[in-house]
Amino acid sequence: MAGQVYGGCYAVIDEQVRFYEENGFVQLPDVLNAEEVAALRRALDVAIEDRKRLQENWGPRGDEGYTKVFLQMVNVWERYAAFEEYVLSPRIGEIARRLTRSSHVRLWHDQALIKYPKDSKATAWHQDKVYWPMQENGALSCWMALDDVTVENGCMWFIPGSHKLGPLNPVDLGNAGDADLLQMLPLGGRESARPHIAEMKAGSCTFHNGLTFHYAGPNTTDHPRRAMVTIFMPAGTHYMPLEHIVGDRGHLREGEEFHGPLFPVVSRRDDQ
Ligand code: SIN
Ligand code: NI
Repeated sequence: MAGQVYGGCYAVIDEQVRFYEENGFVQLPDVLNAEEVAALRRALDVAIEDRKRLQENWGPRGDEGYTKVFLQMVNVWERYAAFEEYVLSPRIGEIARRLTRSSHVRLWHDQALIKYPKDSKATAWHQDKVYWPMQENGALSCWMALDDVTVENGCMWFIPGSHKLGPLNPVDLGNAGDADLLQMLPLGGRESARPHIAEMKAGSCTFHNGLTFHYAGPNTTDHPRRAMVTIFMPAGTHYMPLEHIVGDRGHLREGEEFHGPLFPVVSRRDDQ
């Protein structure tokens, strides 16, 4: 089926780019069709089984707190052709390129995030950028829903404009406790923060800037909540040493621009 899925382009209009710049996130409906979503769900089932069978950890080290937040499997694009096809597809990368007004974007890493039901914990309010080994602040995530997502099963929430606060202190995602982090943000408390709750259908997605505060509630339903995240870096993103879940696999020097096959260019402007 190579080349038959994730073809074509998703037309992002200028208003959506401006919305992203102003708010630090944007929600886009129907980016994948039902067949494409089904292909990713099948690939995810295989990955989850393989991981169990091989007893391998493709995410952070086992931490009871963290595993109740979600199962995280990183860089699945390198293990499975079905994920590679999706993650490197110009349809998704081109949206990231347009939103960042960049000449090209590179992949930082992907991750499947499965929030299991029942004994489920919220993903605490946080900014992604503070965990990333990058000097600049432009990188962004595409959070693709592989199930219909609602407040009940742990959809994403965003604080509009919070990317303008700049980087704040990192949060221990597995053990953030019940503290209402929203109250601690210099945003005038929960009232004025007015989160956007990104309920959406499978195949729809959000893009959020690495500095935008986001959250996902616990999954209180009977079914897993599956999402596929791809993280992109605009041109001119430079390495800054920082311990990270994917490790220092690029062996870049401090201040060096990200490059090479581990961080492939996913979309490039035609005239480049
Ligand atoms: C989640 O899917 O629960 C959180 C995703 C994120 O932090 O980017
Ligand atoms: Ni995050």
